[in-house]
Amino acid sequence: MKILIVGSGGREHALAWRLKQSPRVTQLMVAPGNPGIADLAECVPVAGDDVEGLVELARAERPHLVIVGPEVPLVMGLADKLRAIDIPVFGPSARAAMLEGSKGFSKDFMARYSIPTARYRRFTAEQTADAKAYLETFDGPPYVLKADGLAAGKGVVIAETKAEAEAEIDAMLGGKFGAASASLVIEEFMHGEEASFFALCDGETAVALAGAQDHKRVGDGDTGPNTGGMGAYSPAPILDAAMQQRVMDAIVTPTIDGMRQDGRPYRGVLFVGLMIDETHGPRVVEYNVRFGDPECQVIMARLAEDPLPQLLACATGGLAGCKRLERFSDPAVTVVMAGAGYPGEPKKGGVIRGLAEAGQVDGVTVFHAGTARQGNDIVGNGGRVLNVTATAPTLKEAVQRAYEAVDRIDWADGFCRRDIAWRALERG
Ligand code: AMP
Ligand code: GLY
Repeated sequence: MKILIVGSGGREHALAWRLKQSPRVTQLMVAPGNPGIADLAECVPVAGDDVEGLVELARAERPHLVIVGPEVPLVMGLADKLRAIDIPVFGPSARAAMLEGSKGFSKDFMARYSIPTARYRRFTAEQTADAKAYLETFDGPPYVLKADGLAAGKGVVIAETKAEAEAEIDAMLGGKFGAASASLVIEEFMHGEEASFFALCDGETAVALAGAQDHKRVGDGDTGPNTGGMGAYSPAPILDAAMQQRVMDAIVTPTIDGMRQDGRPYRGVLFVGLMIDETHGPRVVEYNVRFGDPECQVIMARLAEDPLPQLLACATGGLAGCKRLERFSDPAVTVVMAGAGYPGEPKKGGVIRGLAEAGQVDGVTVFHAGTARQGNDIVGNGGRVLNVTATAPTLKEAVQRAYEAVDRIDWADGFCRRDIAWRALERG
């Protein structure tokens, strides 16, 4: 089979790496890919958000399946356009991708189907005073403000004081993120432990895939500003079999049923960001309509069987008749190496050496997330640059292997957190 993967990060490198091992895959193309992906697949220079270019590419190449990595092309309708020319797509339609593309849509959806989440209200620019008054209905800070639309991961603000929340209401409704913040969700702050849960869906049926946890803050001890994710591990101890079943029953199945009833059948991977505590059990922080990055890296590393039949069933139907992907090998961890300055403006262009040596550590694969090739050199070319991923019989050993590999990488401009998986390791 001929497979086309859309995207250029560590998530797409991990997907390509896993699918390359499938005996069914005869040709693997990635648009646009990256220098790490180029070692195992054919990279085509069409950007991940160039919907027309991607449709043209698919029309010319007729892949048997297109797997869309990032959310932006999905929200822009890439899956719809590919389905219109009879090309199977792993990824939701634009109408279903609104679960991630509009916070207001997803909150109203959850309210309608009694899916557990934080109490909220939506506001537009004319309702600035109401928005500020709504802050009074909470016990106090922190206040959670969310731009309705996609804002490159910056649209969620956790305000520590009322003054900060009020200023942010003015900024967002005043157009800080353009159309993305023309509408605002204000919601209750939820306490508990965060986890990421992934389910595969074909529009009718959802099956659990795996749980993971990531580290959003840039600094050790979960300090400093938020990032796209500085590391991840799977399985997540908090998402044991019983908790996964609760998440399926209370959240994932009602979501898939509700979307189907609303005429927005959901196909692809549903990524539910959860907050879990004793009192409320699992509640939805947010939906994402794609694999997490870097959660995908650890899930792909753990998969002991070929996921292609299931991914294909998500695209074409019949997931219920597919065997569930249950065979997982050892735990996995990924450590993100980022360019100095990230999540602000990262330093680019520094040469990275020792990648081959790092990849020789037992159980380690180094995924590229933001690299570029300069002659014979690989250089840093983004915020999150490398995802050093390791599996081992225990999570503790996986962490040791990952850091052993990190220490073999010679990159003056790079840094990473040194405490990835601390929460799971602390539990023993
Ligand atoms: P993102 O949407 O990935 O930029 O991240 C939003 C982050 O904000 C989540 O991962 C949570 O850590 C936090 N967050 C969002 N909504 C809430 C909430 N209602 N209560 C507590 N934390 C939240
Ligand atoms: N790691 C979180 C995300 O992909 O949104």
